[in-house]
Amino acid sequence: MAQLQPDNRSRRGCCCRLSIIWKLLVTIVLIVALIVFVLFLIVQPQSFKFSVKEAKLTQFNYTTKTNTHTLHYNLVLNFTARNPNKKLNIYYDAIEGHVSYEGTRFASTDVISLNSFGRQYTKTSSPINGVFSGQRVVVFDHDQVSDFERDKNYGVFRIDVKLYFTMRFRLGDFIFPYTKGNIKCGIDVPFGSIGTKLMNAFEPTTCEVNF
Ligand SMILES: *[C@@H]1O[C@H](CO)[C@@H](O)[C@H](O)[C@H]1NC(C)=O
Ligand SMILES: *[C@@H]1O[C@H](CO)[C@@H](O)[C@H](O)[C@H]1NC(C)=O
Repeated sequence: MAQLQPDNRSRRGCCCRLSIIWKLLVTIVLIVALIVFVLFLIVQPQSFKFSVKEAKLTQFNYTTKTNTHTLHYNLVLNFTARNPNKKLNIYYDAIEGHVSYEGTRFASTDVISLNSFGRQYTKTSSPINGVFSGQRVVVFDHDQVSDFERDKNYGVFRIDVKLYFTMRFRLGDFIFPYTKGNIKCGIDVPFGSIGTKLMNAFEPTTCEVNF
């Protein structure tokens, strides 16, 4: 029994030291969390806002050869990127745009090529333009062809726009690491002189920004 006592005491001492380390760790974690929380409150970081202001479709038709179609397109999209932040600046390093019709992607382009865009200051908006022009062989099934004819007669094509971006936030002189994400917009683009004038006005559309 007497021989066991020193053992017991040393174990208790070890537990005591461990609990001090634990308390210290918890305190440090709490302080760091508090600093992050206060910084968050001061900086109030917000995602940038993205929208399609204008969309012009001057060519959108296809030629048919056996089972394949060649889609001829000319689509100009005028976007607006807005930085709603009070403290954070934004660098848009690259934005790559893709457009699809009826689930078929028909064109891609660099809307912003690497580092061509400068720094966007707080509470400002910038125009960003994308031109999608050319032709692409697509496989449209019977339903897609009939939807195309329906939309053509109606004078409005539903086009899905997806953009992949790389950006960085800047706080004072500190630039945060690169962040990637995507932007999605579904736009109804008027086409041609078919339909009434009223139907043919493009409605500016807000996009969804995902980090
Ligand atoms: C496609 O549309 C353009 C412009 O609307 C027109 O000039 C061209 O002739 C059309 N092509 C075909 C194959 O229908
Ligand atoms: C839309 O983008 C095109 C292509 O870059 C440009 O020529 C045109 O001026 C832009 N329109 C507006 C209203 O910004």
